[in-house]
Amino acid sequence: MEKIRVVCYGIGAVGSRIAKFMLEKEGLLIVGAIDADRNKVGKDLGELLELNKKLDVVVSDDVDKVLSKASCDVVVHATSSYLKDVYQQIAPLAKYGVNVISTCEELSYPFVSEPELAKKLDTLGLKYAMTFLGTGINPGFLMDTLVITLTGACQKVEKITAQRVMNAATRRVPFQKKIGAGLTVDEFKKKMATKEITGHVGLEQSIGMIAAALCWDLDKITVDTVEPVVAQREVQSDAIKVKKGQVAGLKQTARGIMKRKDAITLDFQAYIGAKDEHDSIIIEGLPPIHQTISPCVHGDHATVAMIVNAIPKVMNAHPGLLTMKDLPVPSAAVEDMRKYLETQWLPQPSHGK
Ligand SMILES: NC(=O)c1ccc[n+]([C@@H]2O[C@H](COP(=O)([O-])OP(=O)(O)OC[C@H]3O[C@@H](n4cnc5c(N)ncnc54)[C@H](OP(=O)(O)O)[C@@H]3O)[C@@H](O)[C@H]2O)c1
Repeated sequence: MEKIRVVCYGIGAVGSRIAKFMLEKEGLLIVGAIDADRNKVGKDLGELLELNKKLDVVVSDDVDKVLSKASCDVVVHATSSYLKDVYQQIAPLAKYGVNVISTCEELSYPFVSEPELAKKLDTLGLKYAMTFLGTGINPGFLMDTLVITLTGACQKVEKITAQRVMNAATRRVPFQKKIGAGLTVDEFKKKMATKEITGHVGLEQSIGMIAAALCWDLDKITVDTVEPVVAQREVQSDAIKVKKGQVAGLKQTARGIMKRKDAITLDFQAYIGAKDEHDSIIIEGLPPIHQTISPCVHGDHATVAMIVNAIPKVMNAHPGLLTMKDLPVPSAAVEDMRKYLETQWLPQPSHGK
């Protein structure tokens, strides 16, 4: 039985970790690698991942060349957060009939911010019998899929509040940069205004996904102004030193309003030096549910897991644009990845000449 053939698209901080983890997995084979960075193009993937061995997979910026040669089952995509940027990267993949799993935050529930692009992706997926999925730890799990799953034990749900507090010092450097760690408050505000830094992307999408799962007709989703968290003492990560008075990270809140009341509130806090890291979900209903994960789930490791664990589920799924609420209950694919495939989707020996 042939291995599941995967192309890695975007070999940055997250894409590299995904690729390394996939190399450990039985039943998976990386058959191509794509990145736009001139410093990565032309390098062997093994060299780029600092493995001290070649994998005979050369990083290319020529998507069509990689896809037409590689004959793969899944493209694992990790480049950017916004669907308007990512659309041009992933839409052309459909014609190869490959499934696409992306870390793009807006793709996790694109119907709220990019409904037209979502419709186009769904149409492409149906036309070419392939599936698009956006996932990750957040959005993708902690503040949406997990919340939705917990409501499964409720007769009534009146209000949902989820909070994530994390010490950004333990996260990848691009993440620390996008939350503004090490900037002055003025720099932070300017860079936020010009979108040079984005903060966390995905609260709106998580609220949209929860509301859709509950068939709640929200009046609107509001995203509050992003607030810098100012360091009260010097704090640092391996990469960034934050002096007292500089920005250590941020706080962001978003709300789903229904019948003029807060129905869903998501509170995201990420800064270097944060204490009491946790993920909590409070469901006011019958029965009420208070769930806390402490310390919080490590986002980088968990994003890698979410993406790779989704591979067999996406291969088994029906075509089109899907979100996490449309797939079976999330679970780890710890055994040979082919064991999780429904038989009609098992890669055939003739596949991938
Ligand atoms: N949903 C979640 O839970 C979750 C979790 C983690 C990360 N993410 C998201 O995943 C994305 C990747 O994160 P990261 O930390 O790995 O970022 P990163 O380190 O900046 O890596 C992105 C890589 O993709 C490349 N790239 C950008 N545009 C490209 C294009 N059009 N074609 C080919 N390659 C392209 C970049 O090259 P250049 O450097 O030359 O641009 C870079 O090598 C981010 O948007 C992040 O927010 C989501």
